[in-house]
Amino acid sequence: MSGPELSEQTFALFQQVILREMGILMRGNKKILVANRLRRRLVALNLSSYEQYYRCLTDPERAPEELPNFVGAISTNETYFFRGENQFAALREQVLPALLAAPSRRGRRLQVWSAGSSSGEEPYTIYMVAEEALRALGWTGGLAITATDISREMIAAARQGEYTGRSLRAIAPRYLQEYFDDLGGGRYRVQERVKDHVHFQVHNLLHDEPPGRGFDLIFCRNVLIYFDRPTQTRLVDERFAPALAPDGYLFIGNSESLLGGSRRFKYAQLYRCPIYRLAAPPAEAGA
Ligand SMILES: C[S@@+](CC[C@H](N)C(=O)[O-])C[C@H]1O[C@@H](n2cnc3c(N)ncnc32)[C@H](O)[C@@H]1O
Repeated sequence: MSGPELSEQTFALFQQVILREMGILMRGNKKILVANRLRRRLVALNLSSYEQYYRCLTDPERAPEELPNFVGAISTNETYFFRGENQFAALREQVLPALLAAPSRRGRRLQVWSAGSSSGEEPYTIYMVAEEALRALGWTGGLAITATDISREMIAAARQGEYTGRSLRAIAPRYLQEYFDDLGGGRYRVQERVKDHVHFQVHNLLHDEPPGRGFDLIFCRNVLIYFDRPTQTRLVDERFAPALAPDGYLFIGNSESLLGGSRRFKYAQLYRCPIYRLAAPPAEAGA
């Protein structure tokens, strides 16, 4: 039995929503991909056509509820613990010692934002690496991580904090022993004492205000690739720059770059990782 068909006209309407909500120009050759990814929303809402789904998406009463699910269905949620291990080495060995050397930070809680955190593997990895490093550095100020994603489903999974197979493919066994409860059958749940430090929130990077100010670290990895160049630049310069502490660090994905785009960030040159710091504001630049 064949499923519902996505017509060219309705695909064009979805392309507009994707561009407006996600900053992605979805080309014509992505029609089948879009149809496949939206099919689960049709099933979840018990709809029999893409036209019905488009009406739901543009209905002022239903759109606020459904738009995050739409964006979540279109984007890829692929993630795993310790993805981009070189960045965590840089965090442990260079970034945290440098941050904690600043006298202004003494006794203060370290604030981290994981933006586009998917099902939670990234913020929980940040917690494990940072907690261990901070302990070794004798830091007593504490650590708080705000983790955001546009997808309600991903945020719910992250709060649940239960993981198996692919998510755990790069994690060292000692982290599983120290920070997880073994549920048997290859399933592990993040311990409550870890969850207490990681606050999850549904949030659209393009439309919502940052979830705070003065973050010492912002991670936004493997998310910018979804956006076109102008949207990437707007996001980092207008949302991340004001949310970051003046001496904070921005981590992006290993296959991403801000070079040639951002006016607010400069490359930090740490472990050849895509880690950035704020450039001096224009008034100070020549001083
Ligand atoms: C490939 S995952 C990256 C997860 C993690 N940062 C990592 O590097 O492993 C991309 C995530 O970005 C989220 N995302 C896409 N567009 C977004 C937006 N406009 N606002 C917030 N999150 C978004 C998706 O829901 C998805 O969970």
